[in-house]
Amino acid sequence: MTRIGPSRVRWFHGGRARILYNLISWHLRNATDLRFMNYGYAEEADAGNDGDQTERLCARLYDAVVASANLAGARILDVGSGRGGGALHLLRHHGAEEVTGVDYSARAIEFCRRVYENENRLSWLQGDAAAIPVPDGQFDIVTNVESAHCYPDRRAFLREAFRVLRPGGWLLHADFTPQADAPSGHVSALASQVTRSGFQDIRVTELTQGVLLGLSLDAKRRGDEITRRFPAPVRPVARLWAGLPGSWIHRDFASGRRLYYRLSARKPE
Ligand SMILES: C[S@@+](CC[C@H](N)C(=O)[O-])C[C@H]1O[C@@H](n2cnc3c(N)ncnc32)[C@H](O)[C@@H]1O
Repeated sequence: MTRIGPSRVRWFHGGRARILYNLISWHLRNATDLRFMNYGYAEEADAGNDGDQTERLCARLYDAVVASANLAGARILDVGSGRGGGALHLLRHHGAEEVTGVDYSARAIEFCRRVYENENRLSWLQGDAAAIPVPDGQFDIVTNVESAHCYPDRRAFLREAFRVLRPGGWLLHADFTPQADAPSGHVSALASQVTRSGFQDIRVTELTQGVLLGLSLDAKRRGDEITRRFPAPVRPVARLWAGLPGSWIHRDFASGRRLYYRLSARKPE
């Protein structure tokens, strides 16, 4: 069993998480077939496809996050776009008109510019979620998947999401909570921050069970990728990061000490 010590709770939060993602982007710079960095999501109907060796369940998480919205013809900003698989999925499978990915990691942005250079309706910006380098009111939808746990100032991100959306535009956000005995308190505090940022029509849905199912269906692929791509000394941390069954992050989800949720909210007309 991997033991990270008492500070483990903060490993995936704040600035340390950002450093971790940057290191991973560097390490996987030539792995052009790995295009997501999220825990994935599944429903019972997905269980029959567990031999699938692709990142299908990571794309399914994006499907779950945007399920309440109509993306046809939408201009989307994906904040914390990582390796770009989510942005491409929204373009190809949800009818988006164009998707801009913004990520703090220069390495992730360099990867996306290289891998998607022929996709002219995708564009990539290096920038901070707390100071997004785009003008006001440019986007119909802001997506934000499994990235906000890294932000030192989540309120600054919410202000920025509000600013870059057009009136009537939607914020579609998903993330996991820090480990806590009552993680639902974290989600309620977030919903209050979203309201104070000016949004309305806020809906929160818990996704933890679907994320756990996704992680177990995808465990073999994730484990094989880690063995194939990472040197032995790094594999225990990579298994943790990947949320494999047996890792403490997986146990936190299973025990209810950590929740995975999605939130949608609309900027008033
Ligand atoms: C777990 S990955 C998720 C990537 C992508 N959304 C996905 O689902 O595959 C989190 C991403 O958030 C990015 N990130 C962290 N802090 C950020 C910040 N302050 N501004 C923008 N992006 C940030 C990281 O660089 C990383 O690419």
